[in-house]
Amino acid sequence: MQIKQNISLKAYNTFGIDVKAKHFVSINSIDNLKHILSLEEFPNKLVLGGGSNILLTKDFEGLVIHINLKGLKIVSQDDNFVYVNAKAGENWHDFVLWCINNNFGGVENLSLIPGNVGTAPIQNIGAYGVELKDVFESCEAMSLKTKHLKSFTREACEFDYRNSIFKQQVKGEYIITSVTFKLTKKDHKLSLNYGAIASELNHRGIETPTIRAISEAVIKIRERKLPNPKEIGNSGSFFKNPVITKSHFNMLTENFKDIPCYPVSDEEVKVPAGWLIEKAGFKGKQFDNYGVHKKQALVLVNYGGANGSDILKLSKLIQKTVKLLFGITIEMEVNIL
Ligand code: EPU
Repeated sequence: MQIKQNISLKAYNTFGIDVKAKHFVSINSIDNLKHILSLEEFPNKLVLGGGSNILLTKDFEGLVIHINLKGLKIVSQDDNFVYVNAKAGENWHDFVLWCINNNFGGVENLSLIPGNVGTAPIQNIGAYGVELKDVFESCEAMSLKTKHLKSFTREACEFDYRNSIFKQQVKGEYIITSVTFKLTKKDHKLSLNYGAIASELNHRGIETPTIRAISEAVIKIRERKLPNPKEIGNSGSFFKNPVITKSHFNMLTENFKDIPCYPVSDEEVKVPAGWLIEKAGFKGKQFDNYGVHKKQALVLVNYGGANGSDILKLSKLIQKTVKLLFGITIEMEVNIL
């Protein structure tokens, strides 16, 4: 394990922002992680996993800890279920493909989500009707204070839409080191309710889909709509879809007859932020080397060499405009440094 100085973080964030870390270390064992956390000369630390949910707006003057813990193993199984433990540094999509190749069901709808296994629980990643919490059994995390490993059950994680205890009560206090998933070995519970999946399968003439067919359909849908971070820097959805009261929604329908919504409760609905941002005129807008993606207004993009601070300014302008037009506050999903 080597602590390096003045390292560019460009390759460590999917936005592709070129800022520097004063100190940088890549961690591939629990012992190394313990050791690094106990070094007193680095009080200021930033933990990076896949770097898929962060916008870097400036150089980092402390120590960046890159979590590079690798390994996938079957912990236990019975006739119906298999429990798989994946280390935090495993790439999420590679993990999904490994599950599909082994015919382990549950994560196929979450194909092609950028990032690593260890960061997936923090924001309870979700797509096409499935969330991480649906397959999550437990995770192990190291306390930055005590350097001890602690296990968190699903209940303890308090998962919610793009939210968990790791973004709330214990924010910044733990580093997730591995996640254990409960997956199906047979009679897979397929989630086909999301319209786009049904029509993609239909288009492919598939009547009885396998988990592989669903994964392939999801990959196609995502490739059509979302930019590949390897080609255009981005962090997926930059904002969360806001939840508003039904009375607020009804008021909006007077001026915006086509405003879409999803039910949440008797009193509330969720509105797609992408729709609000598109209506506010930002979809496809390009400012120098950054902008709003042309096919999905929820995604801000770096066309190459952009500053994180410019993208942050754009995101604030979008928030302000959406608030003025619709009276809705859209919250950022991405963390800002
Ligand atoms: N829409 C627009 N214009 C746009 C984008 C969306 O009008 O530019 C409207 C359309 O009415 C569309 C609806 O929004 O039917 C929903 O769009 P989409 O299916 O693309 O989903 P989303 O609500 O915009 C969420 C997640 C995505 C996830 C998809 C599919 C959030 C913040 N985002 O987006 O997650 O892939 O659903 O399940 O909940 C991510 O978190 O990085 C991410 C990509």
